[in-house]
Amino acid sequence: MQKAIIIEGSSRANGDTNKISEALAAKLSCEIIHLSEYNISAYDYDFKNKDDDFLPLIGKIIDNYDLIVFATPVYWYSMSGILKTFFDRITDCLKTEKETGRKLRGKKMAVLNCSSSDTQIDGFFVPFKATADYLGMEYLGDMTSCVNDGVIPENIQNKIENFAKQLMAQKEKIAL
Ligand SMILES: Cc1cc2nc3c(=O)[nH]c(=O)nc-3n(C[C@H](O)[C@H](O)[C@H](O)COP(=O)(O)O)c2cc1C
Repeated sequence: MQKAIIIEGSSRANGDTNKISEALAAKLSCEIIHLSEYNISAYDYDFKNKDDDFLPLIGKIIDNYDLIVFATPVYWYSMSGILKTFFDRITDCLKTEKETGRKLRGKKMAVLNCSSSDTQIDGFFVPFKATADYLGMEYLGDMTSCVNDGVIPENIQNKIENFAKQLMAQKEKIAL
């Protein structure tokens, strides 16, 4: 069995996206990394931020996990700024930290989002799929979700269950 991690990009570690992430994490028996708890600054062409939390964090993720599930709230029809900054910083792994970047090849990516109404937003997952493709990662799938007044609706609970099964099936296949 390969190890999974959920990387959560909400601006609050105890919000709606976290509720969905925790429900999925319970089914995948995995942990959650809250990007909001890390000091990761915007991409810098001169790499002046090379001593912030990004490089140790991506190193830990690469060394320990094979399936990376990105969980993001929908902020203005897109992924959160925190998660986008994390993706921007993967550029460091293609420039100064090439060895780290190469290790992303062959890893699996999946994505979930959480918005106010669980509606599919055209093109929302395109940057994730394209990034996976560019980095040589395998894109396993995605799901949309929402939380109503702090409660995960029943249909979303079912979606999480199915999404977990889908990811577990892929994980089993990979492990064979
Ligand atoms: C800055 C901001 C932008 C948002 N933009 C959208 C949006 O474009 N579409 C949508 O359905 N919900 C939008 N929402 C609502 C959030 O997606 C929703 O409340 C989500 O559950 C918040 O998750 P969180 O508690 O992890 O931040 C927005 C919320 C914020 C704070």
